[in-house]
Amino acid sequence: MREPVSVSTARREFLKFLAASPYVAALGGVATYLERSASAQTNQQPSDVIASPAEALDVLDFEEAAHRKVPPGHWAYMASGVDDDGTLRVNSEAYKHIQLRPRRLRDASNIDTRISLFGADFPSPIFLCPVSGHKAFFFPDGELAVARAAKARGTLQFLSWNTSTAVEDVNKALGRPVWQQLYAPDSWDACQKMLQRIEAAGCTVLALTVDNTTGRNSETFLRTRPKEITQCTACHTSAAGPTPQERPMYDGINMTGVLAQNPAMDWAFVDRLRKSWKGKFIIKGIDTREDARLCVDHGADAILVSNHGGRSTETLRATAEALPEVVAEVANRVPVLVDGGVRRGTDVFKALALGAKAVGIGRPYIWGLGAFGQAGVERVLEILQGELKLAMGNCGTQKLSDINRAYVATPDWKT
Ligand SMILES: Cc1cc2nc3c(=O)[nH]c(=O)nc-3n(C[C@H](O)[C@H](O)[C@H](O)COP(=O)(O)O)c2cc1C
Repeated sequence: MREPVSVSTARREFLKFLAASPYVAALGGVATYLERSASAQTNQQPSDVIASPAEALDVLDFEEAAHRKVPPGHWAYMASGVDDDGTLRVNSEAYKHIQLRPRRLRDASNIDTRISLFGADFPSPIFLCPVSGHKAFFFPDGELAVARAAKARGTLQFLSWNTSTAVEDVNKALGRPVWQQLYAPDSWDACQKMLQRIEAAGCTVLALTVDNTTGRNSETFLRTRPKEITQCTACHTSAAGPTPQERPMYDGINMTGVLAQNPAMDWAFVDRLRKSWKGKFIIKGIDTREDARLCVDHGADAILVSNHGGRSTETLRATAEALPEVVAEVANRVPVLVDGGVRRGTDVFKALALGAKAVGIGRPYIWGLGAFGQAGVERVLEILQGELKLAMGNCGTQKLSDINRAYVATPDWKT
């Protein structure tokens, strides 16, 4: 995100040099040489910015298009990580250190990406992660636009507890219940009311997020959001951002004196929650074999390997690197899902090869949403699903169960 002055100066000089070069012009101009970043700062030139979803060649094409439309404070919140954004970066970079080992001369005329999870069928293993407050990126439709896109593409949609649209309305737009994410408050009474509400809404899958119970150091967000934030009170009761009272999932729940995320949450709490929730139960935010074992011991039906998209702790450990030890520990007793830094169909393929059953995206669909609403989210899914099929075909795998560890090499990993 922030570059040291010397680096950005050198970069500007280099770009000036490229711009003046006839060779570069012949090869398509400076933009050809620019690496697009997976965080907020893209280097696209104005002429590169896509004007419609159809123009996008990959999901990163949506980033700058969204950047120009989303209010700057909301953009800074979404694009940033914590501390130096190192975990945010390594999540994506890790996939670049995993190589494919394609097998040749296999019939690739029928590529099947269908998946079945907890009895539900989906045409693709790519799912939409829970991301708070979609209206911040596309107003007023927010989560409804995402749900309509997910419906159109048959995609599994997780809904954040901090959604800006009530679960009942999102379920209607999706045409089936979302998989509901939960931030557990420090009041059991409030927690029970939350469970009752989503059960009444028809949800059968709950994902408890466990990776961020004590707050976070959102330094880049604080540096890059507008300095003047008093105008935020036009929509929010506090300039610091939305309070639980503004979130529809807290309606009817007295949050006075209650912490929205319980810093004392432990495995005893998981046991209590597990007993109270009749549906399927996922734990989101697991990064180690030790915790993976505890998840299984404490009755989780699935594990989602995640570091909150680099927004929780600056672990500097990519989820792609954490995934294999979790998969090995779990030994097929429950499905393992993963998210973080997935930007390409080949990334999805690599995660599947490392043992993930399904693979989530966060920021990429928010870019699609911010840029073009429902149509943008649909195109993001279409691109990733298409890229996955291409990777599968060219690697000699026809169906998801064909993909395994033999299709990837991780030469510079320590483990
Ligand atoms: C703006 C934003 C808000 C998020 N809100 C939530 C949330 O409410 N609950 C949650 O469990 N995870 C949340 N996440 C984390 C995502 O579910 C997911 O783990 C992450 O975005 C995946 O990484 P990626 O953005 O690199 O694809 C959020 C992520 C972003 C970028």
